[in-house]
Amino acid sequence: MIMTDQSRRVRLVAVPEGLPKETDFLVEEHAAPECPLDGLLVKTRYLSVDPYLRGRIAGKKTYVDPIPVGNVMESGCVGEVVASRNGEFRVGEMVAGLWAWQDYVGVDAGKVQRIDAAEAPVSTALGILGMPGMTAYFGFTELCLPKAGETLVVSGAAGAVGSAVGQIAKILGCHVVGVAGTAEKVAYLKSLGFDGAVNYRTDKPYGETLAALCPNGIDCYFDNVGGEMTDAVLGLMNTRGRVAVCGQIASYNDRKEDIGHRPYTDILVKQLRVEGFIVSRWGARFPEGRKQMAAWLKAGLLRYEETVYKGLESAPRAFIGLFAGENTGKALVEL
Ligand SMILES: NC(=O)c1ccc[n+]([C@@H]2O[C@H](COP(=O)([O-])OP(=O)(O)OC[C@H]3O[C@@H](n4cnc5c(N)ncnc54)[C@H](OP(=O)(O)O)[C@@H]3O)[C@@H](O)[C@H]2O)c1
Repeated sequence: MIMTDQSRRVRLVAVPEGLPKETDFLVEEHAAPECPLDGLLVKTRYLSVDPYLRGRIAGKKTYVDPIPVGNVMESGCVGEVVASRNGEFRVGEMVAGLWAWQDYVGVDAGKVQRIDAAEAPVSTALGILGMPGMTAYFGFTELCLPKAGETLVVSGAAGAVGSAVGQIAKILGCHVVGVAGTAEKVAYLKSLGFDGAVNYRTDKPYGETLAALCPNGIDCYFDNVGGEMTDAVLGLMNTRGRVAVCGQIASYNDRKEDIGHRPYTDILVKQLRVEGFIVSRWGARFPEGRKQMAAWLKAGLLRYEETVYKGLESAPRAFIGLFAGENTGKALVEL
């Protein structure tokens, strides 16, 4: 049964130049969709704003299909089933999946996962128990190959992925130093148990600051950001260090490529292993990752933060806020 005949949606109306602007998006009303044959009608409760969406609205193909101008924005979302024409799902159940930024959406039942609200708050399906959590868990453990006693530096450390990486590294016995953009975030990282934290806006020169916090050098680098901080970290890496290249947010809004320092001499002489990844490569193992992260959460070893924007109309602002570091932990929009 359709619960409403009106719904709102957020469309992309221009390819952003540099930093996206709210006027690159349009919030408008549209007729609420019907419940699809064999599918579900879902009322969106949370939508996720993620840095990778910048690549999807850049007007060119990356590792995910672009969202063309005129289309409705989409990302990971959580919602409540309000009508079902599928025997597997009942009205009132909560589901997660990739869908359009709309109040109401018709979804294919085969493309959503049921969420157990009794296990953890449903919003965690977009954060610590969702894609960012899996990025932290698999990207760090599989590519940085951490050993107890080793030193990890993680950039973007107060965000959804970075805050999880640092805490996992502490669980595994590493010395952990995080990099973030404000004094409040530095204090937050220390409250999570990080051994050291750098404010990249003020703690310069980076090389000296990091060297003081990493007296035994750096064995693992989980890079969410790129740019000059990465140049400085590479200079301090130990022989046979491992670098997981997760994100390069410092350059997502650049109009021309910034090659910066050439890293290959450091990679050669220190015999570094540097590997980029897209988390979907471990998609088949997400249940294992979720189980481990949920167990650490339950044991109180992992904590998470959310920055929640209210209302569908705030989605463009929430997305743009990622590039100004407005969020601590996972940035979400609650409808
Ligand atoms: N490879 C994959 O499969 C995969 C999957 C998920 C995410 N990622 C990447 O992982 C990174 C973190 O993603 P997330 O979802 O956890 O986002 P997030 O860290 O929660 O949010 C983005 C953060 O980046 C920082 N930032 C923004 N512009 C910056 C700049 N110019 N220089 C330095 N820091 C900047 C901001 O924090 P400050 O206040 O500290 O500046 C901001 O809070 C992103 O690069 C994303 O693209 C990759």
